[in-house]
Order: sequence, then structure tokens, then C-alpha cells
Amino acid sequence: MLTNVQNIAVLTSGGDSPGMNACIRAVVRAGVYHNIKVFGVIDGFNGLIDANFKAMDYHSVSNIISRGGTVLGTERSERFFKKKHREIAVKNLKSKNINTIIVIGGDGSYKGAKQLNKDFGIQFIGIPGTIDNDIYGSNYSIGFDTALNNIIDSIDKIRDTASSHHRIFLVEVMGNTSGILALHSAIASGAEDVFIPERKEDLEIFETKIRKALLAKKSSIIIVSEGDQMGGAKELYDFLKGKKLHSKVRVSILGHLQRGGNPSFKDRMLATQFGSKAIDMIINNEINQFIGTSKGEIYTYELIENTTKVIPKNIDSLNLIKKLSIY
Ligand code: F6P
Repeated sequence: MLTNVQNIAVLTSGGDSPGMNACIRAVVRAGVYHNIKVFGVIDGFNGLIDANFKAMDYHSVSNIISRGGTVLGTERSERFFKKKHREIAVKNLKSKNINTIIVIGGDGSYKGAKQLNKDFGIQFIGIPGTIDNDIYGSNYSIGFDTALNNIIDSIDKIRDTASSHHRIFLVEVMGNTSGILALHSAIASGAEDVFIPERKEDLEIFETKIRKALLAKKSSIIIVSEGDQMGGAKELYDFLKGKKLHSKVRVSILGHLQRGGNPSFKDRMLATQFGSKAIDMIINNEINQFIGTSKGEIYTYELIENTTKVIPKNIDSLNLIKKLSIY
């Protein structure tokens, strides 16, 4: 336990993800345990600019471990891009004697934390929190597992109606630059094909497959990332319409349903381990680092410049989907 009380802040930023609350809870309670005073920042980096801090104690995080979203609120702060606003943020942090922030979010949130450190020396710890699971350095981010379960649950339902009507469903999932949600959900739902941002599909081959599926009166599920080559499922539908192949095709855009709901076991577990680890890092002065996980291990790392996860390691998933589908 530290003898002098240290003040820190925790914020959630970017798209909310199920499990963020479990992480906030772990940060606050591990902080209480180690005599660290934790301030919650409301609405991400905007809360730093607006001095919107909430002193947290053991009880302020009661009963939130099971809730989706984030009790702190989140924003994609446009203002934080401007140095003058970052200066105000630092002034507000200093007025509370806070020199370290824990940032739970995705790639953009990490960039914000790094910038604050570069310009003003504010220390940070980054925790991966995004359903997109596209953060360099960690195999999993908080929310990915719950979002996958949400997607699979929806696809199972769509499959019932698709097979009854012998229809082809183009199911759009989130991930505007990353196809990991699409790939994993396609494998786990037994989808016949997948379109992801990282790879261009041959549309002639696709057209031939659709013709065959229609002739065979087969139902099919095709997962389409919102950021694929066409720009989503609606656009792929329009392509098929242009070929007069659309009458048995339907589009289902899962949208923000994917991001809500109670976090899964895996997300609660990971979030709790990450939150507690962040406090350990502060105690051990391991600051300006990020937390990641792989093969059940929780570790820390320093971020390199290019933070976007790359697809090659997912090519196996893509091949698996194609191999298991006769369509
Ligand atoms: O949080 C990531 C994400 O869900 C992306 O998959 C998606 O493209 C984006 O957020 C949607 O953002 P918003 O909720 O701001 O429309």
C-alpha cells in the first residue's frame, strides 16, 4: 500500500464496449485497496477539457460489473485534436493533482493519451476497449467477445428465416477498418462467405456463386463488414440488383445492437484483470505503457507508431470459411 495518497483519473473514450464498466470497477476498487484516489472523467477527453471529474469510491462502482456501455460516458472528442483544448485539459488535471490517466478505448483514444504525454508529460496507461478488436499489441480487447456473441445470436435467428424462404442474407457487421468481427462471427455462425475491409473479393466469382446458390434454392448467410470494398451490405445488394439477382436476397444491418448488452464472462474477466493490472503498473511506476493479452497472459508493452492491427494472421480464418462452405 502507498503511504501517500496519489490521485489518478480514469476515462473511457471512443465507441463504448461491453465490459468497460467491469474495468472501471476494477480500477476504482484496486485503487481504493492501494490507497490511490481515483477520479472518473465524464465523457472521455471532453470531460478533461470541461473539468468534469467525479471522485469515485468503493461504492460508486457497485453493481456495474454486469452492465454494458460505460457509466462514465464516452465521446469521440473533436476538441481534443486542438492543442489549446489539450492545454486546458492539463490545467484541469493539475488542479486535481492528477498526473496519471488510465484510458480505456481504441486506437484513437491511445493516440490522445500519447499526445498528452508528448506535449505535457501527463502519464498514461492504455487499456484496450473496443468491439472492433483492432488494437496493435493485444489479441483481445474489451467488448469483442460480447459483440461476437450478439452477432452470432442475431445470425442464428436470421438463419431460421433464410432457410425457410431459401433466401440469401447479406448481414452487415461493424468494423469499418477491421474485418476481425466479420471473420470470427462468420466462422462461428457457419456463414457461407465473408467480405472484409482488408481484402478485395472478385465480384465475378461472387456473382457466379450467387447464381449457383439461387439455382440450387439454397439459403446462404454472407457476412459483410461495414467497411468492405463495396461500403457495406446495401451496396453489395445493389450490385446484385444490377445483375437482376436480388429477388431472393435480403439485407440485415445489425448496427448498434452489436455493441450493447451485458458483457460476457470473457469480457468481464479480461476487463477486471486489465483494470487491476493498471493499478499495479502505477504502483510499480510502469507508466506510459499499454496492456495486452495473448494466450491467457496479461502483459504490458510500449506502442509503436503504426497502431493498426494487420490482417495477415487472419487469412487462416478466411480460408477456413471458404473451405467449409460448398457454396
Ligand atoms: O467502436 C467501434 C465502432 O463500433 C465501429 O465498429 C463502428 O464503425 C463505429 O464504432 C461506429 O461509431 P458510432 O457509434 O460513433 O456511429
